[in-house]
Parts: sequence; C-alpha cells; structure tokens
Amino acid sequence: MCGIIGYIGEKKVSDVLVKGLSRLEYRGYDSAGIAVLNEDGISVFKEAGKLSQLKQMIHGVELTGHLGIAHTRWATHGEPSQRNAHPHTDCTETVAIVHNGIIENHEEIRASLIRQGHEFRSDTDSEVIAHLIEEYHVKKGMSLVQAVRVMLGQLEGSYALCAISQKDLNQFVAARNGSPLVVGVGRGENLVASDAPALLDHTRHVIFLDDHQMAVIKRDSVEIFDQHGKPVKHEVHRIDWDADEASKQGYDHFMLKEIEEQADMVERILRTRLRGELSEHLFDVLKFDQSEFNNVERIVIQGCGTSWHAALIGKFLFEALAGLPTEVDVSSEFRYRHLVYQPNTLVLSITQSGETIDTLMGVRRGKSQTYKTVSICNVLGSTIARESDGVIYTQAGPEIGVASTKAYLAQMTILILLSLYFGKTRNKISGSIYDEFVSELRTIPSKLKQVIQEKEKIREIALKYYEARDFLFLSRGINYPNAHEGALKIKEIGYIHATGHPAGEMKHGPIALIDEKMPVVCIAVRSSVYEKMISNIREVKARHGKVIAIATEGDSSIKSIVDDCVYIPACSEFLSPLLVAVPLQYLAYYVSVLRGNDVDQPRNLAKSVTVE
Ligand code: G6P
Repeated sequence: MCGIIGYIGEKKVSDVLVKGLSRLEYRGYDSAGIAVLNEDGISVFKEAGKLSQLKQMIHGVELTGHLGIAHTRWATHGEPSQRNAHPHTDCTETVAIVHNGIIENHEEIRASLIRQGHEFRSDTDSEVIAHLIEEYHVKKGMSLVQAVRVMLGQLEGSYALCAISQKDLNQFVAARNGSPLVVGVGRGENLVASDAPALLDHTRHVIFLDDHQMAVIKRDSVEIFDQHGKPVKHEVHRIDWDADEASKQGYDHFMLKEIEEQADMVERILRTRLRGELSEHLFDVLKFDQSEFNNVERIVIQGCGTSWHAALIGKFLFEALAGLPTEVDVSSEFRYRHLVYQPNTLVLSITQSGETIDTLMGVRRGKSQTYKTVSICNVLGSTIARESDGVIYTQAGPEIGVASTKAYLAQMTILILLSLYFGKTRNKISGSIYDEFVSELRTIPSKLKQVIQEKEKIREIALKYYEARDFLFLSRGINYPNAHEGALKIKEIGYIHATGHPAGEMKHGPIALIDEKMPVVCIAVRSSVYEKMISNIREVKARHGKVIAIATEGDSSIKSIVDDCVYIPACSEFLSPLLVAVPLQYLAYYVSVLRGNDVDQPRNLAKSVTVE
C-alpha cells in the first residue's frame, strides 16, 4: 500500500508529481506529500488527508526545480497525520525519502540512531531510512548511491523507496524489495512509480525492478544495479494501456466507469482468447510444458477479497465442467495451513493487483510444495505475475476504484475459459458442448449491456434501502459466491453491515435476524437450484423481511412474492455469475452515493494490500 513517484526531467516537477499521485491515490489516501529539489535546497510540502489537501497547500506556491519525489500514504506505523506524512528528511535536511513497505527492524535502528544524536520527527518506520542515509552520505561523505546501498544492507522488511539529496542535483535513487516499483523510460526525462498508470502520461516504456535491485535515475539515463552494485541488464516493456483508461472520462466515479465498461471488456477478452484454438491463446506466460498443465489432477485456488469470490466460482466451474477436484482457500489461511501433499496439484492464484502480500506468499507456499503455480492477474509485470510459473492476464485495463468490479468479471471470464479448456482436454465435455458454451459466451457482452439498462431501476431500489443498518445476501449453487460479493461491496463502499450466505444455511442462524426492516437480496436466477431458492424467499417473506430479487427475464411469477425485482437476461447457469454481479455492483454504488460516501476511496481501505 502507499504510492510513490520520483521524476527528473524538463517538465515542472510539482505538476508531474501531483498528477502522478492522483493516479496512485487508490493505493492509500491518509496523507500526501512532495519534495522538490533545486539549488536552494529541498522544499517539502505534506498534508494529512487526501491529495486535494496537498493541492490546496501548494496552490500558488512557485516551486522551481526538475527533480522530485512524492508519496500517498496508507498508514501502518504512526497515525495518519501531517507529521507522519512522507517525504521524510534527515536531521540536516540534505536528504529526503519516500517509502512504501514496512521496515521490520526500525525500532532497533531508530534506537541506535538516537544514541548517535539523530532527532526523529515522526512515528513512522520509514524515517530511519533518511537518517541512515544521512549517516553515510552527509557524515561519512559517501555518494548518495553508495550511501543508499550501504543503508539497504541494514534494512529488514519490505520497501520500494526513492531518495534525493541536496548534494546531487542530477539524479535520484530508487530501490525495491517486496514492494512494487516500475521505472518509466522517457525522452530527456525518467520516472519511477509504484504502478504503471502513474507513468503513462509521460511514457509507455517501462522497466519492472526486481527485488534487491536499485536504480539510478538521471535525466538521460537509467542504470539498474543488484545489491552488490553490479550493473544488471534490464528489459524495457511496452505498456498497452492508455493514460485515458486511468481517467474518469466524464463519469462521476471510477467505479461507475469501471462497471459500465465491463461489456466491452468481456468482448475484448473473448476476442483475444478465442481467436483460434483456445489452447494457443490461453497463457501469456508459461515457464513449463503445457502437457504438465494438462495432466493436473487437483486445483487449489487462492486469493483475497473479491478475487477469493471469483475463486469460489472457479470451483463450481472446474468441478462441473472439467471433473477436476478443486479446493479454494483465502490466501491468508492457505499460506499458513497444513497442506497435505498430492502430486499433480496446480496452485491457481487470482489477483487483480498482483501485489497482495498474502496471495504472493500463497504462490511461494505452493512453490515450496513443488506445485506448479499459475496466476490470473490484471497487472502486467506485477510481483505475482513474475513469480508464478504461468500467467493469464485478465486484460481488464487499469482498475482504479478501490472496490473491485471489472477485474472480478474479467477473472470469472478467464475461469470459464479455463474450465472449458480443461473440460475439453480431459474429455469431460464434447466438442459440440464446448462449441455451444463458446457461442453462448459470445452473447454475454450484449447481455451485459442489457443489464446496464436496468441501472435506473436499481437506483430506485437503493433509494428505498440506503438507510438500512444491515443487509443479507442469499444465493445457491454457482451464484452463492456472488452473495458474498454483494455483501462485500455494500460493506466496502456503503459502510453497511452485510453478510452473504448460501441460502440453505439461512435456517441455521441468519433467519433470526430477519424482521420487517431487513433488506434481503436473493439471487434467484433460473438454474438447477431455482425452486429451492424460491422456498428460501418464501421463508424470508414469512418473517416479513424485504426481498430484493435478482431473477431471470421472463420470470413473472417471482414478482408477486418479492418486494423488488431486477431482471437479467436468460443464460446458462454456468455463465450467469457474470450477469448477476452487475446489479450487485450498481446496488452498492448507488447506496454509497446516496449515503454521501467516498465511492472510489472508501475509508480505511486500499486497493493494493501489501501488508499482512
Ligand atoms: C483489497 C481490495 C479488494 C480486492 C482485494 C484483493 O482488499 O480493496 O477490492 O479484491 O484487495 O486484491 P487483489 O489485487 O489481490 O485482487
């Protein structure tokens, strides 16, 4: 969590940094700050709260200079406040740093630095970095590059950091270990940021730093070194995302834009993956023989948050369409639980950001068991993508709203394709059934557009219930994970207590919560468990609960037993989670707007969770 950016070049550095921070604000928004270097020294501006506070602070200030660093924070050590905001400087204000990660041995280092006379001005773990650099660079006279290298040798924990020095106007230094960092290679300018969208206004050419690497960034050059100071060869990648994709393009919120681009996105994914034989276009990276993949006998899927919900849907798909035994685990549990070894197990990791620490540790856990690891990931070159043995990119484009929407649909789309692939290679589905699925899949984008037409209806429902204190979400079968997802969305951005349950479990507890004030969202689309779901709806109504149903177009009978109803177009049960998710996203969106919440940057959350 936290976003950092560094820039050197001709442009007005404060503008570049502030714009870059606005692209990174999804990573944390407890405080923001910039440090700009010029011949008079380092000017630091930082403020608690969102980036808008910092913008107000520097409005009208003439900041000259062409080199600077900036930070947007998600607090870990030290409360969100101005004093804990980055950049941090050393005692002599010669050096300024920004840091994303956690320095685990900061207390020990801090105590030793205090004994040597250093004065600390914040409660953060990060400030030790500035003082350590001071020790070597200011006191012992080492160059900034040397001082950073020696300093890094003392740190335990994770970091992506940038450092500038008043004694060196021509370069800055960046380093990573465990937190992401991307170098943007421009013309007469170079940048570093936590994530590619912050660079796209300036360049599409990027270098993904690896752990224990350090970059020395000058106006006309980028040099990468390993921890021993040995130059490292690096590959320059081209990013296909457009800078515009990371902007609101006239929508009120990123979340709304991201919900509404899902139809085009699914169409794009299908176009890329189904442009010939699925087997040829399935993987973007595969570091082992595809036949090994085909011989998998068990899948363990792991992920967090919304990605975990996609994983739960994946289990239904793999078991039903490919006859593959599948386990699903939340990554924070998977990484610590006792694993029973079984040969030919595939660890499939699902992650939008590719940086979630628990999911990353789950990948490493899988590898430690000698399992092959494949990830379904959205962010190109992210740590999980690079550490996995195989990668299928979801190609959802940048997702900025903190609550995940389009990444979820993209993950489900890939899982459907993967299960069809396994179904076919394992002879569990015939060629004609496969073809039927594929042709129905191709109708999903237009069906998604139809669901989007229902948004006004969903807004009216939100108007009726946005003041509720609790929400229940019930479903069965392949859509039961969507009950969890609906509840998560309402919690994340509505700040309303909500829980999702398999509807059959309602009688074992949740039913006690039902009274005339309780909105219960019941996913009752046509499926093998439809009748059971209708019985559950009747049980809720018998206790005077308010039922909001998500049903299949043409199901007129359901209307008479529920309070409100949103229809989705008819489709195969296996594809229905794609359509069901959208009304749930809209419901949370409108509830959040009506409650006056910050839709895109809900309190206490961050999009990329790089702490345990
Ligand atoms: C955070 C985000 C969620 C996301 C989860 C997992 O909690 O707010 O929207 O689902 O992390 O993130 P990942 O990037 O691994 O999918």
